Amino acid sequence: METLRMLLYMVLCALIWLMFIATYVYPTLRTPVSHVQHPIYVIRTGKPPVGKMSVSLSSPRFPTLMDRISAHFNETNIKELQTYTTKYLSPKRHIINFSDFDVFLEKCDVQMFTLLNSFGKRTCDVVHTPIRTYSACAIVGSSGALLGSRCGEEIDSHDFVIRPNLSPTLFYEKDVGSKNNMTTVNDRVLKEISQALTSTETAVKKAMVIRLTDHPGLVLSYPLEVLRAPPRKVPLAELKTVAKAVRDNNLPVVVTFAHQSVMKSKRLYASQIWGGKTWSLPSTGINTFALASTFCDRISLYGFNPIQFDNSTKGAVPYHYYGLGKMDNPNHMLWEEFAMYQDLHKRGIIRHVIGKCNLK
Ligand SMILES: *[C@@H]1O[C@H](CO)[C@@H](O)[C@H](O)[C@H]1NC(C)=O
Ligand SMILES: *[C@@H]1O[C@H](CO)[C@@H](O)[C@H](O)[C@H]1NC(C)=O
Ligand SMILES: *[C@@H]1O[C@H](CO)[C@@H](O)[C@H](O)[C@H]1NC(C)=O
Ligand SMILES: *[C@@H]1O[C@H](CO)[C@@H](O)[C@H](O)[C@H]1NC(C)=O
Repeated sequence: METLRMLLYMVLCALIWLMFIATYVYPTLRTPVSHVQHPIYVIRTGKPPVGKMSVSLSSPRFPTLMDRISAHFNETNIKELQTYTTKYLSPKRHIINFSDFDVFLEKCDVQMFTLLNSFGKRTCDVVHTPIRTYSACAIVGSSGALLGSRCGEEIDSHDFVIRPNLSPTLFYEKDVGSKNNMTTVNDRVLKEISQALTSTETAVKKAMVIRLTDHPGLVLSYPLEVLRAPPRKVPLAELKTVAKAVRDNNLPVVVTFAHQSVMKSKRLYASQIWGGKTWSLPSTGINTFALASTFCDRISLYGFNPIQFDNSTKGAVPYHYYGLGKMDNPNHMLWEEFAMYQDLHKRGIIRHVIGKCNLK
């Protein structure tokens, strides 16, 4: 009896010891490990860990800039917009590799985008688009309000950056970033590019070559009507000139065209999800956004702000952040487009960034 009680007592003691070691001694033995890991954290983030994060080894990584950007969006509402825009627009039809232009004319019905001789049953699948799908896109407009915005880092944190009308980045990186994966050009800019590339002035040509090769892989998209009835065939001639210069000079640029103008789809803005507007002349910016919504999950807009006067500094805001640009077509309803972006922003469908960038 006595020995049994003795044995029980010893087992109990051993258990208490084990618990003591488990709660107090074991963790202190492990702490050196966490001390070894600390400096790594510090070096990686550039600032000392704060609060709970410095203690808890299992805490997730610090939220990145992109995590903060993503937090704004409402997936359900985005899907609703995409269901609508994909009925009208698609990179397969509106951003086609220009190298496929001849086979397109030979084998497809231009307006219907079906294979000839298939009785309208088969889609024109002999052409290719360089566009894939991207999780986060930034579209950077050219508003003068971008000057001093310090949005460059935020813009560059997106996977795919689109800059309508080949807006420059050189010298403006802090405010507008430096990535450029795609540009959509209107007639005026297409003409500028084609004239520069065929210029007899070496300096003019060279400046354009540098601008186009600044961003290897740049998709140069002409999303308007390329096949216009004579005598207005100009865009096709210019697009051919640009494509030839790109080939001859081995430039890392992918020239693309649309089977029909994106403007043919302007009825899409009349839907309620877009605010129900029927504009006679949607801007290049809004057409680019509509097209991008079909291949980008989340879109942030920067520089889509037609402001001309800054109330806080009482100063005039230039129309473009570069050069001496002026509104090129008074038929654009830029303030109405602006109001629509604000509405889409509120519903978490886009991020419409209009002030300074301070998401850090
Ligand atoms: C997204 O928006 C819808 C409709 O406005 C709303 O019902 C839903 O709660 C929102 N979802 C999130 C995650 O906020
Ligand atoms: C465009 O088409 C040409 C010719 O078929 C091909 O060499 C090139 O890789 C294509 N570009 C892209 C980005 O798909
Ligand atoms: C976008 O362009 C940048 C360089 O400007 C490049 O590093 C990146 O891979 C491109 N992204 C895609 C998805 O092509
Ligand atoms: C700027 O001030 C003018 C005149 O006070 C006002 O009408 C306008 O709405 C203001 N604009 C903004 C963006 O606050």
